[in-house]
Formats: sequence, C-alpha cells, structure tokens
Amino acid sequence: MTRSPERREPIFILGISGSPRAGGNTDLLLEEALRGARAAGARAEKIVANALRIAPCQECDRTRSDGTCRIRDDMREVYAKVAAADAIVVATPVFFGSVSAQLKILVDRFQCAWIARHRRGREPYDRERACAFICVAASERRDFFENARAVVRHFCATVRARCVEELFCGGLEAKGAVRGRPEALRRAREIGRRLAGGASRGRPAAPAT
Ligand SMILES: Cc1cc2nc3c(=O)[nH]c(=O)nc-3n(C[C@H](O)[C@H](O)[C@H](O)COP(=O)(O)O)c2cc1C
Repeated sequence: MTRSPERREPIFILGISGSPRAGGNTDLLLEEALRGARAAGARAEKIVANALRIAPCQECDRTRSDGTCRIRDDMREVYAKVAAADAIVVATPVFFGSVSAQLKILVDRFQCAWIARHRRGREPYDRERACAFICVAASERRDFFENARAVVRHFCATVRARCVEELFCGGLEAKGAVRGRPEALRRAREIGRRLAGGASRGRPAAPAT
C-alpha cells in the first residue's frame, strides 16, 4: 500500500495466525513476513487466534451498528485491528484439509460484517486493504491449499481486502521444519516487504508453490 503525501504514520500490517504452535511453521513464516514489512518501514502486529478468548458464531443475525458482533469477547480487538490495518497477512496450517479451527472461528465471526453489507446496506469498512495468505501443510496436496484459500478469499471479500500474495508450503510437518527451507522464509519476508512498500497493489496473486 502506498502512503498518501499527507500521511505521517507508518503503514499498519496485521498478521493473523491460525496455528496453535508458537515457533511452528506458520508462526515462523508469518514472523518473517512481518519482519520484512517492518524492514520496509511498516508497523506490524501479530494476532494469534489460539491465544484469544473467542466464541464461535451463534448465528444470531443481530449486528451492532458499526457492523461488529454483539458477543463481548476478544473479537472486539480483532475487529478494531482489521479495520485499522492497511494490509493483512493471514497464515494457517492445513488441518484436515482446510484452515485450522482456530482461524475458522475467527473468520466466521466476521459474519456480522457480511450481514451489515449484504442485508443492511451498510459498509463496515471505509477503505480497501491488501491481503497475503500463507499456508503450510505436511502433504503437498493442492486441494487442501485450495480449500484453505477459498475460506481466506471469502474472508478477504468480507473485510474489503484484495488477496494479492500467496505462499503455499507443503512438506512441512515437524515444529520449526521451515527453518530448513530458506527459500520459503525469504519469500515470506519479500511478501511482507512488498505489502509494506506497495508493490503488491493491483497485482494478481503469485502462483502457489
Ligand atoms: C489437527 C491436525 C490436522 C492436520 N491435518 C493435515 C492435513 O489435512 N493435511 C496435511 O497436509 N497436514 C495436516 N496436518 C499437518 C500440519 O499442517 C503441519 O504439521 C504443519 O506444518 C503445522 O504447522 P504449524 O507448525 O504452523 O502448526 C495436520 C496437523 C494437525 C495437528
């Protein structure tokens, strides 16, 4: 994302991790992306879904006037950070062929924003943002990554994010195995750098690996 000439505060990049494993493959790649973003001058923060107290969506169909959910839990902080973000990096391991349950619970809680826009005619997000998607798995199965991507793309559409970067890393099972894949770490760092520097704007998603 580029800064407008009058803008003084740094670009804000929000990382959202769906892995419960601190220091695991998702975490290391996400940290690398955020490191790249910081190196390019952005302010970067990480949210770990597993560390939040968040309830699954209750399908109450009642949204607050700002398009957020009525349940009082840690999603309040997530809504505020997503709304403030200039770009988002969503990172998850593949669990049973899709995103982790931790990430899915968080994503489902954006149903209130979907309802606000599609049923109430209100736009909860005042601007667009870019999104990068990082996904790791033990196998190389393409369909698992595609399932996960479909969830994240739907999330992106709901929070006015354009998914402009993707990094799919198969063959990673043990905690921290990605340390042995310097090319993947480099690509994650470059994604963060591009998000912060604006090179991703308008570009189609990079092909998955
Ligand atoms: C509950 C669970 C389900 C998993 N399901 C799959 C799967 O369907 N396909 C696959 O390739 N790997 C699967 N894995 C392996 C993880 O995706 C893999 O170990 C990944 O590197 C973990 O990332 P992390 O270190 O960031 O948590 C599963 C792991 C767990 C714990």
